[in-house]
Amino acid sequence: MQKVIVESPQTKLQNDLILRVARGEEVERPPVWLMRQAGRILPQYRALRGKLSGFKELVETPELAAEVTIQPIDELDVDAAIIFSDILVIPEAMGLTYEMIEKKGPFFPETIKQGADVDKLASGEHAAAQLQYVFDALAITKRELGGRVPLIGFAGAPWTILSYMVEGQGSKTFSKARKLLYQNPQLAHQLLQKITDTTIAYLKLKVAAGADMLQVFDSWAGILPKAQYSAFAIPYIRQICDAIQDVPITVFAKDAWFALEELGQLDCNTIGLDWHLDPQDVRQKVGADKALQGNLDPCLLYADEQEIATSTEEMIQRFGKQHIVNLGHGVYPDTPLPGVKCFVNTVKAFRY
Ligand code: CP3
Repeated sequence: MQKVIVESPQTKLQNDLILRVARGEEVERPPVWLMRQAGRILPQYRALRGKLSGFKELVETPELAAEVTIQPIDELDVDAAIIFSDILVIPEAMGLTYEMIEKKGPFFPETIKQGADVDKLASGEHAAAQLQYVFDALAITKRELGGRVPLIGFAGAPWTILSYMVEGQGSKTFSKARKLLYQNPQLAHQLLQKITDTTIAYLKLKVAAGADMLQVFDSWAGILPKAQYSAFAIPYIRQICDAIQDVPITVFAKDAWFALEELGQLDCNTIGLDWHLDPQDVRQKVGADKALQGNLDPCLLYADEQEIATSTEEMIQRFGKQHIVNLGHGVYPDTPLPGVKCFVNTVKAFRY
C-alpha cells in the first residue's frame, strides 16, 4: 500500500516534483538530484571548507551548513536539497564522538566492544535532542530556500551505523562488525535497537524542523548475507518506516539486490537503487506502488557529454514513470562539473 501523506497547509513549494513522485502522483518529467550533491563537487564548497578548521565545524555551524546545502540548488538547479550533515552525528549523540580525518575519513577514538559499552550509550529522544545544530540548520535552510525545492533530511540505517560504531572507521570488510553478529547476536540487537530509537526520534525532529522528505542510507547493506540482512537490518529499517508517517521516506540499501522483495514490503515510498540493478527486474520484485530512485553509474559522469545525455535518457526510458532520477551512489568528489550539469539538464529537458 502506498503511504498516504497529508500535505501540511504551510508548505508553499514552487517545485514539488519529487514529493509528487514519492506520493505516486503523475508528473510531466522525473525530478533529479544527486546523492552527496552538498559538498564534494562544488568549488564554492571547497572554498568555504578551506577557510574552516574542518568538516565538523561546517556540520555544526547551522548558517554554514545551510549555505552548503543551498549551493547545489543555485549552481545545478536540481529538484531537491539535501541537508548538509553526516550519518555519524547519531553515534556522537549517543556518546561515541567521531573525528573526520583529512583525506582518510571518519575515525572513532572509542568503539563498541562489549555489553557495558552499549549500556553506557544514550538513546531515543534524549540522545536525539543533542543534535540541535542539525535542526537549526534545517530551519535556516528551509527559510532561505523560500520554497524553491523540497528539503531532504537523512540518517544512516541502523546496520550501517552499528558498523561504524564497532569498527571505528571505514573498512573494506567490516569484519569486526560482522563478527559481532556471529559471536554476540543479542548484543548486536541491543545496539541496533538503541540506534533505531535514536534515529526515529532524530528523524521526527528533522521533520518538525522543516524536512519535507527523508532518506535512510544503508551504505553497507551489501556486505551481509541475505539471512543476516533479514534478521539484523530489515526489522530496524521497518521500525523507522513505520514510525515516519508525515513525510515520504526513501530507503537506499546499497548492493542489497538480494533483499529487494523484503525492501518492497516496507512502508516506504521510494526505494533507492545502486547502478547494478535493472529497473524492470526491480519492479517485478518490489511491486507496483513504490517510486524508484537512481541509478546512473556515478562514473558515467566522467564520459563525454553526448554519452552522458544518451545514457541518461535511456535510463529514464527503462524506468518508466514513478522515477526519481539520481546516481546509483553518491557523486564522486572529482566529477567534472560540466558532466554533472549535462546529466541534470538532460533530465530537466525530458518529457514523458
Ligand atoms: O548528500 C549530501 O550531499 C549531504 C551530505 C552528506 C554527507 N555525508 C557529507 C559529507 C551525506 C548524505 C552523507 C552520508 C554519509 N556519510 C554516508 C552514507 C552515504 C554514502 O555515501 O554511502 C556515509 C557512509 C558517511 C560516512 C562518511 N562521511 C565517510 C565515509 C566520509 C569520508 C569520505 C567521504 O567524503 O564520503 C564522510 C565525510 C563527509 N561527509 C564529507 C561530506 C561532504 C567529506 C568531508 C570533507 O569535506 O572533507
